[in-house]
Amino acid sequence: MGKVLLCCSGSGGTGKTTFAVNISVAAAGQGLNVLLLDLNMGRRNADIYLGMEDRILFDLGDVVSGLCRLDKAIIKHDLCSGLSLLSCPQYREIEGMTAGHVSALYNTLRDRFDLVVVDCPVSVTGVLRVFASGADAALMLTVPDFSSVRNTEALCEKLEEIGVAERYYAINRIDRQYSDSDNVPGINFITRSINAPLVGMVTEDPAIHICNNSGIPAAFAEGSDTARRFADIAARITA
Ligand SMILES: Nc1ncnc2c1ncn2[C@@H]1O[C@H](COP(=O)(O)OP(=O)(O)OP(=O)(O)O)[C@@H](O)[C@H]1O
Ligand SMILES: [Mg+2]
Repeated sequence: MGKVLLCCSGSGGTGKTTFAVNISVAAAGQGLNVLLLDLNMGRRNADIYLGMEDRILFDLGDVVSGLCRLDKAIIKHDLCSGLSLLSCPQYREIEGMTAGHVSALYNTLRDRFDLVVVDCPVSVTGVLRVFASGADAALMLTVPDFSSVRNTEALCEKLEEIGVAERYYAINRIDRQYSDSDNVPGINFITRSINAPLVGMVTEDPAIHICNNSGIPAAFAEGSDTARRFADIAARITA
């Protein structure tokens, strides 16, 4: 029985898609059968970060509308065996998608994959309930901004209310130039504020930005510091 892991945050642009992609690559590299499920409806981009944008003929919207079977919309990555992608529609929401539908989808996917990593939209209350109900775990992404830390605290409480049993967070975009100043929240402040275990930290790194844009995930560069960080996070989450 697989595990459904949400990559989520209370603010936009914290690195949900970056982490969803790189943790999926890392977990597949550790021998798991992984599905990356992009639920950022109307604004998907995991396909770009994975270099798979030209390969998507069908998406979850086509499955829900009965145009194709689930199998047709699940695409295997060319270079990373063990990793598949299921995208949502690029320019629209899926009308009438309820928490019940999403939970049923998670159950189907749990039977077929060891790990289902969900790239979530920004997790405001109504939307959160739809995709968090029925998930096993949540990796909350925060960046070293007071606003992001506060939104992560609120998100963590909501996930608990909804019943997501495992909740942890990672800090993205740590910039050593500022991290020791009082102007941005330091690691001590963040760990005191968020009531969940910290599973990893990733620095501000232009190479990650370039990897996302070139469709070659940073986690592919085995031996690099960034790849090791994503591998460590994946191992902690799936242990
Ligand atoms: N550690 C990092 N170093 C440098 N750039 C990064 C890092 N993490 C993410 N980025 C860049 O920051 C931007 C936002 O990242 P990403 O798309 O992963 O965030 P998101 O939380 O999924 O955003 P959204 O809320 O729009 O879905 C992208 O341009 C990405 O390449
Ligand atoms: Mg995103």
